[in-house]
Amino acid sequence: MRIHTAVIPAAGLGTRFLPFTKAVPKELAPVVDRPTIHYVVQEALASGMDHIAIVVSPGKEALQEYFKPSAAIDHLLRTRAMDAVAHELQEMNERLTFSYPVQERQLGLGHAVLCAREAVGGEPFAVILPDDLLVGDEPVLAQMLRAWQRSPGNFVAVEEVPKSRISAYGVVELAPNGEIDSRTYRLQGVVEKPPADTAPSNLGIVGRYILMPEVFDSLAETRPGAIGEIQLTDGIARCMAYHPLYAYRYQAVRYDCGTPLGLLRASLEMALARPDTAAEVREWRKGT
Ligand code: G1P
Repeated sequence: MRIHTAVIPAAGLGTRFLPFTKAVPKELAPVVDRPTIHYVVQEALASGMDHIAIVVSPGKEALQEYFKPSAAIDHLLRTRAMDAVAHELQEMNERLTFSYPVQERQLGLGHAVLCAREAVGGEPFAVILPDDLLVGDEPVLAQMLRAWQRSPGNFVAVEEVPKSRISAYGVVELAPNGEIDSRTYRLQGVVEKPPADTAPSNLGIVGRYILMPEVFDSLAETRPGAIGEIQLTDGIARCMAYHPLYAYRYQAVRYDCGTPLGLLRASLEMALARPDTAAEVREWRKGT
């Protein structure tokens, strides 16, 4: 079975990036030369999706503007010998449709995903949190989809997190003998932002999910939880009544772009990995 839609929650106020976010959505802050949301949309495209539902809040219309095709920009890119970029934008516009469900009030990540219910339309779907940039040989969603085809159910991406930081994450609880393969585990629970001492494992959820449509019913019944918000993790836990839940330990490097310094690090490391920018960055580093 194919997954068509990736839901990208992007309705947050971007408080950590103030004053920048007074005028520009956080998701448009660049890593080298592309906004963070551009990379995650490309990940969805490369994983076979054809519909992107970006959940926005009033005042974040610039996100819509970014993904609108522009003949003038296309022309400019092609006259400035930036054909590769023009081609990349063209491919996104030709192969993807975009919709923009609105979250009127910031009631939490679970509520933001629930706002995409109509846009998703009753099928399994992916969720991508645009703060988490995952860079690897194979897109993480594509890795997860392979595991999901073998074991249908709800899937969360996980990575090992040091104890000192685990209370900032959703944390999974493995089922006894739950190992499906070296990267896929059956779960018996999941909890949002537990205190480090009671965390059920050291595997924290990272922003990639493949979810069954029944999650929407579960989210509709979910009350505010950790930090007073309607949590996606709680909705997924509730959905264990209908579908098995799995964690997938992905293969990729993660950049947490949810803070200004995380974003800086992502830019620096990605510029070092790119053939067109690596030499110049190495040159500056010699001087530091
Ligand atoms: C969200 C999720 C959490 C997950 C994290 C990953 O939390 O609620 O389960 O571990 O993203 O980045 P937030 O970072 O929005 O507090």
